[in-house]
Amino acid sequence: MSLPEPEIWRIGLVGGTGPEGRGLAQRLAIAGHAVVVGSRSANRAKEIAAELAAACGDQVSITGADNATAVSDADLTIVTIPYSGLPDTLPPLADSLRSHIVISTIAPIEFREGRPVVLPVETGSAAQEVARLLPESRVVSAFQTVDAHALADLDHELDTDVLVSSDDTEARRLVVRLANGIAGVRALSAGRLASSRYVEECTALLITLNRIYKAHSGIRITGVDR
Ligand SMILES: NC(=O)c1ccc[n+]([C@@H]2O[C@H](COP(=O)([O-])OP(=O)(O)OC[C@H]3O[C@@H](n4cnc5c(N)ncnc54)[C@H](OP(=O)(O)O)[C@@H]3O)[C@@H](O)[C@H]2O)c1
Repeated sequence: MSLPEPEIWRIGLVGGTGPEGRGLAQRLAIAGHAVVVGSRSANRAKEIAAELAAACGDQVSITGADNATAVSDADLTIVTIPYSGLPDTLPPLADSLRSHIVISTIAPIEFREGRPVVLPVETGSAAQEVARLLPESRVVSAFQTVDAHALADLDHELDTDVLVSSDDTEARRLVVRLANGIAGVRALSAGRLASSRYVEECTALLITLNRIYKAHSGIRITGVDR
């Protein structure tokens, strides 16, 4: 399925009720997209969607539904669940996500004694694992380095780069465009999906920096003019 050229897309968020999903839902809705927050519980999704919409003002479109419904009518899907939830969550959605662009925001990180540890992933990265579980989807990796707290503070303009990787050139280009539509974000193409591993690992480093400096860090790539 090709995305429509109009700038307004219907976006479904699998696990959109957590901090990362909520923050992306708000920022993307403010950018003008119609967002459906997905959850294992339709009621929970509806409650959270109503809270998010109220916080953003009347002009935005944020609704809630169970995960399957959230993605069924979407032009583009974003997966914002923990890495451990992938094997149970994605295969049942594979049919509706066939040919769809699916963005993985996932960093395969576990906390041990309060410290982030990157889990080994046989396929190379969480995004490649999403591609393995959704072999007929157009998987793109993005947003792992964008902190949920920074997204949630709507008074704070983001000031960050987003690295976007995919084996599907057109899907990567569209997600770069989508991310650039969020105020304060500069999206850069990071090549093939295998690059996601380095971005996912960088997330663990950012979490450590956040702990040391009591910050909500992000990344900036220097020397690239765009
Ligand atoms: N938090 C951040 O700052 C941040 C930054 C960059 C990237 N990320 C990545 O974004 C993803 C989401 O982060 P988060 O902090 O929002 O995570 P989270 O709060 O742990 O989980 C997000 C949502 O996923 C659903 N979920 C939880 N466990 C699940 C499971 N086993 N199976 C299926 N669904 C499950 C829950 O929704 P329901 O109970 O409503 O179904 C939950 O609200 C993670 O993969 C993380 O690595 C996070």
